Amino acid sequence: MARKASTGSLKAAFTDHLQETHQQVARLEQIGESLGISLIGKVCKAMQRLIEEGKEVIQEDGDGLVLDAALIAAAQRVEHYEISAYGSVCALAERLGHADAVTMLQETLDEESAADEKLNTISLEEILPEGPCDESDEPDELDESDEPDESDDSDEEDDEEEGEEPEDSRQEGVPVPAQKKRPLAKTK
Ligand SMILES: [Fe+2]
Repeated sequence: MARKASTGSLKAAFTDHLQETHQQVARLEQIGESLGISLIGKVCKAMQRLIEEGKEVIQEDGDGLVLDAALIAAAQRVEHYEISAYGSVCALAERLGHADAVTMLQETLDEESAADEKLNTISLEEILPEGPCDESDEPDELDESDEPDESDDSDEEDDEEEGEEPEDSRQEGVPVPAQKKRPLAKTK
């Protein structure tokens, strides 16, 4: 992902978090050792699929910033999954009284949340504001056909239904909008 990213800060974010991930694995191994349990041999199918989706994004071609946005979306799905998993296991470790494990797991959880937040910031401050925009999606200039129909007095009917106060009782100094002219009733 770092190689595919075109924005410098996104490359750095991916590279930095990869380093953190190595430390997170080391923490898990340390927790496993201290508890006398093996933490290998169980494949997480959901994470496997998320990683496959990330690889699909890496193989895409197109505008650099659009691809960066897609990379961030793929990476954040992974981060959110990790936050969920580490949050659960952290709570379980706390409930079981494994204080050292809780400290290490909380450190990892904080790193995951920070990584997610960093991706958010890069996306909102650098990628989305600079990314291409399809001008055909821009709203057209307001022309006469878009203006509200003066003959439509539905607003006035709403006002009447809400029991609008008579003008005399309104607060002094508050400008009162000019009343719309009602269309003359058609005579046969
Ligand atoms: Fe992560």
